[in-house]
Amino acid sequence: MANDMRFITAVWQIMDELQKNDQLESTLAASVEILLQNTGCTSGYIFMKGTEDDRLYMIAGKGSGDGLGISVKAGEGPVGNVFQGKECILIENAAEDPEYQNASEIELFGKKTLLTPMRTPHGQFGVVMLNDPEDDDFTAEDIRIAENICSLIALDIEDKGMEFRPYKNKKQIVSLRGIIKEFMNGDEVRRVLKGIDLDVYEGELLVVLGESGCGKSTMLNIIGGMDRATQGQILVEGKDFSSPSENELTKFRRDYIGFIFQSYNLMPNLTALENIEFIAEISRHPLSSQEMLDMVDLSEKADTYPSAMSGGQQQRVCIARAIVKDPRIILADEPTAALDFHTGQDVLKLIERIVRDRKTTVIMVTHNIEIAKMANRVIRLKDGMISSMRVNLSPLHAEDLSW
Ligand SMILES: Nc1ncnc2c1ncn2[C@@H]1O[C@H](COP(=O)(O)OP(=O)(O)OP(=O)(O)O)[C@@H](O)[C@H]1O
Ligand SMILES: [Mg+2]
Repeated sequence: MANDMRFITAVWQIMDELQKNDQLESTLAASVEILLQNTGCTSGYIFMKGTEDDRLYMIAGKGSGDGLGISVKAGEGPVGNVFQGKECILIENAAEDPEYQNASEIELFGKKTLLTPMRTPHGQFGVVMLNDPEDDDFTAEDIRIAENICSLIALDIEDKGMEFRPYKNKKQIVSLRGIIKEFMNGDEVRRVLKGIDLDVYEGELLVVLGESGCGKSTMLNIIGGMDRATQGQILVEGKDFSSPSENELTKFRRDYIGFIFQSYNLMPNLTALENIEFIAEISRHPLSSQEMLDMVDLSEKADTYPSAMSGGQQQRVCIARAIVKDPRIILADEPTAALDFHTGQDVLKLIERIVRDRKTTVIMVTHNIEIAKMANRVIRLKDGMISSMRVNLSPLHAEDLSW
C-alpha cells in the first residue's frame, strides 16, 4: 500500500509537470528533480539523442556534474548501450570497473547507478542516469518508479514532437577523421596522436584540456596546417583537405587561420601597430589594423616596441594580429598561461567578444580547467586520443571566471 502511494505520487507529479511544460530543456530539468525526489537519489542526469547525429547529449542534470554536458555515441559505453537496448541496467562501482574506464560519462556515475531508457513503442529518445539512493540500494520500487516516469517523459516528448538539436544551425568548419601523427624519436617511431575524430563548428569556443605531452599542440598545428598528419583525413567545410599542395596550404593558413601562442613572438623591430599591419598586408580581406589595436585597448601603444610592453599587452597585440586577417578559426595555444589572473581574464574577455561578434571559431588549449567553463564544448585529450567531450549547456562569461 505504501509502495502504491509512492508510485501514484510520483506519477501524479510527473504528469502534472509534463502537462504544464512545453519546452524540452525545462521539462527535463523538472523531471530530474521529480525523479530524485521520488527515488531518493543524490544525483541524476538525462541524456537526450540529438537529431543531427547519432550521439546522446547530457541535457539536464543535478549533481556534481556541474551543469557541463557530456555526449556519448549511441551504442557505445553504458549510456549508449542502454539507449539501444531494451531494459534498464544497474551498475555498481563503475569507477573501479575496467569495463567502464574509457566511457566519457564515467565521471557522472555514482557508486550505484541506474540507467533507464526513455522510449515508447515508436521511438527512443534518451537515457536517464540516477545515482546513489539514500537507503544505499535501488529497491524494486525505485526501479519501477524510474521506468514509469521515463516512459511518461518519452510519451510526452513524442506527443509534443519535441526535438533536441544540439548544434542547430551550426556548420562544420573543420573535421578530423582518424588523425594519426607519428614523430621519429631517434630510430623509434612515436605515435603521438592515435586516431582523432573531431568536428569543429562555426562560431564555437572549443576548449582542449589534457596533460602535458598528450598531443594538444600537435593537434592544433595539424588543424592549422602548420604540420601534416601521418595518416587520416581532414575536411575543411566538408571538402577533403588531406593532402593539400604547399600553395593550398599557404592559402588556407592565410585566409582561415589566426594563431595565438603562449609566447608572444612579436617582431621585435616592429611597433605594436606595425606588427599588426605586417599581417594585414599579406591577408586577403584584412580588417583595419588601427581598429584592431583599439579593440584590444592599446590605442596608446601604437608606436611602442614589444620590448617596452608588458606580457599582457604583447599578448593583446598577438590577438589583434590574429584577428586582423578576419580568420574563420583562431587557434590559441595556452594564451593566458604566462599572464596573471586579471590580464588573463582580459584576454579571455576579448576572445569571448570575438566569438560573439565575429562568429569566429576559437579552439583554445589550456591547462586551466576554470577556463573550460566558458567553452561551448570541452574535449579532453589523453594519450593521443579524445577521452571525453562535454557540451556546456550554459557557458560562463569570462568575467565570471576566477582562478
Ligand atoms: N617535432 C617533434 N618531434 C618529435 N616529437 C615531438 C615533436 N613535437 C611534439 N613531439 C612529441 O609529441 C608529444 C606531444 O607533444 P605536444 O606538444 O603536442 O604536447 P602538448 O599536449 O601540447 O603538451 P604541453 O601541454 O606540454 O604543451 C610530446 O611527447 C612531444 O615530445
Ligand atoms: Mg602544447
